[in-house]
Amino acid sequence: MTYEHDPADGTATLESSDLGPTGRPLREFPEPEPLRSHGPARIIALCNQKGGVGKTTTTINLGAALADYGRRVLAVDFDPQGALSAGLGVQTHDVPTIYDLLLSRGIAPADAIQRTGVEGLDVIPANIDLSAAEVHLVTEVAREQILASVLRKVSADYDVILIDCQPSLGLLTVNALTASHGVVIPLECEYFALRGVALLIETIDKVRDRLNPAITLDGILATMYDARTLHSREVLERVVDAFDDRVLETVITRTVKFPDATVAATPITEFAPEHPASRAYRQLARELVDRGAVA
Ligand SMILES: Nc1ncnc2c1ncn2[C@@H]1O[C@H](COP(=O)(O)OP(=O)(O)OP(=O)(O)O)[C@@H](O)[C@H]1O
Ligand SMILES: [Mg+2]
Repeated sequence: MTYEHDPADGTATLESSDLGPTGRPLREFPEPEPLRSHGPARIIALCNQKGGVGKTTTTINLGAALADYGRRVLAVDFDPQGALSAGLGVQTHDVPTIYDLLLSRGIAPADAIQRTGVEGLDVIPANIDLSAAEVHLVTEVAREQILASVLRKVSADYDVILIDCQPSLGLLTVNALTASHGVVIPLECEYFALRGVALLIETIDKVRDRLNPAITLDGILATMYDARTLHSREVLERVVDAFDDRVLETVITRTVKFPDATVAATPITEFAPEHPASRAYRQLARELVDRGAVA
């Protein structure tokens, strides 16, 4: 960090260029210590009922970055669109999926887990079958707790489980929130980004009251930020005004590399490790470890 020294009065003032996009001083988060033992996992839902805000991209790249830091990571595709499964290049047809586990069709959770091209990052896939789950689960006993009971069976093998939620606040998302220790809310730096967040936080509060007293908001992650536009800067300023230190310092910039990485079915952290977006996701991983959200 550099300081502008004013010899006239001897004061040092922080240059505004040393402030991060959230308006707070830029910080370096330390490289996480290697873990000596693994599990049980802390479970984090990536959640926002608004579509296209970066939930799946964040699950993939945060998962890969944490795996690169030696964490054992399980990513759960909890969206019938199966974008997470596609983005990690795993099979979604003629294999057990999260849907089969929810309906407990005599399949052990371990049998649905697939390895990815990233060492230490595994995935439970989803496909369009999952769209029927909301209807089937409605009549189940303890219908909100079914994912929690599935994940309990594999938690010991992982340090962190990331759940990529679908863009809705229906029963599947309530299952994800009930199963989770924490929530990360990706928020696109666009007009109307804040619209809907109050409802999401209300939903998290209800889940805390009724189903999962321990759930915490691990942070709000600003995504698709473009420092060149006043608009993006204004949106981020309003998000920080509204949520203060619940806004993570790491901000994900808008970049065309993400669609490329999707086509390559591999995390950008593997595909272009020195790209600024890869650095940003590694920083996010370090920030979450620093905050205690991940071991
Ligand atoms: N930082 C970024 N810069 C540019 N494009 C991005 C960025 N992050 C994600 N994208 C692209 O934006 C689109 C939506 O991202 P993503 O699928 O991660 O969002 P989502 O919240 O999971 O969407 P959905 O609600 O539909 O599941 C994708 O095409 C993705 O490649
Ligand atoms: Mg998605």
